[in-house]
Amino acid sequence: MAISLIPAAFLFAAAVAIAAANTPAFNVPTIAFDDGYAPLFGERNIVRSPDGRAVKIILNHDSGSGFISSDLYYHGFFSTSIKLPSEYTAGVVVAFYMSNGDIFEKDHDELDFEFLGNVLGREWRVQTNVYGNGSTSRGREERYRLPFDPMVEAHLYSILWTNTTIIFYIDDIPIREVKRSRAMGGDFPSKPMLVYATIWDGSNWATSGGKHKINYKFAPFTSDFSDLALRGCRLDPIQPLPADAQCLEADAETNAAAYSIITPVKREAMLRFRRRHMIYSFCYDRLRYPVTFPDCEVLEAEKVKFGNSGHVMPQQKLPASRHRLRRRGRAGRGVVPAKGRAEV
Ligand SMILES: *[C@@H]1O[C@H](CO)[C@@H](O)[C@H](O)[C@H]1NC(C)=O
Ligand SMILES: *[C@@H]1O[C@H](CO)[C@@H](O)[C@H](O)[C@H]1NC(C)=O
Repeated sequence: MAISLIPAAFLFAAAVAIAAANTPAFNVPTIAFDDGYAPLFGERNIVRSPDGRAVKIILNHDSGSGFISSDLYYHGFFSTSIKLPSEYTAGVVVAFYMSNGDIFEKDHDELDFEFLGNVLGREWRVQTNVYGNGSTSRGREERYRLPFDPMVEAHLYSILWTNTTIIFYIDDIPIREVKRSRAMGGDFPSKPMLVYATIWDGSNWATSGGKHKINYKFAPFTSDFSDLALRGCRLDPIQPLPADAQCLEADAETNAAAYSIITPVKREAMLRFRRRHMIYSFCYDRLRYPVTFPDCEVLEAEKVKFGNSGHVMPQQKLPASRHRLRRRGRAGRGVVPAKGRAEV
């Protein structure tokens, strides 16, 4: 009988605490939602967990929703676990990104993870993008399939941003590295940014170029965020020093952290992920960009694979992505392993 005296909220909290302790990638401390974030829009569609360390953002007939970091950051490591909405999700977009678009209208910087929903039986796709100094006419999109089912369990998505390098991570695997170069110039993000997460109706473009729209019969669309981490240089709004000067110490810490260093083993994992799962790269999209970007490393094998459009050519079928990213310490999270889903 004693067990029934333990409130459900406590059990939930305990489960989350164990999960947090198991959180693999780089063991960064996580925060409660309200300690780093605030609602951005659709506040009624933002639901905090009883312990405040996880949050659901919902898209329904009334509204999408989203949250925003309470502070500006200049460099750091920004991370969250995300479980995506299931069933029919065509037209649904979930995003985890950094931007300063509300502060710098014409010359904003941005780093994106965008998740694009799909019709039943087809998988979510993820894209990453990098903008700097308002380079919106020079989108550097890459698109990937995921080697796991992102609807049945949460996975960790992280953005590292330093003065010289950007790395996108899925769990502890780097999937994309962007190095600052003279050629890239101002297109490398260089001003303080806020961190955002949103869910919204992207019917116009998200799925097959807008062919498949949202079907609100399947609403609400719910995305779970947990393992929230905001590491790096949090700017003090009343401190008159410029970001560079405020952030010397934090930058040194960021640069020395494990997530800033790509070991040969991690590099090999990154290349393997990209070989197997990348389905679009701006570097090979000659239709959109007749002149290849100076920061593109063009590989002969990839040239064949991506053709002229930047999209994987139909005859270049990727290996079935049934195998999942290795996940240290995630066992015991009570999640069902990804079911083999129809691969279309
Ligand atoms: C960051 O990089 C820029 C451009 O390379 C350089 O001017 C600046 O001094 C660097 N700042 C720090 C804190 O390293
Ligand atoms: C940013 O863009 C503006 C106008 O588009 C340009 O004049 C400026 O030189 C750019 N800054 C950098 C650092 O590239």
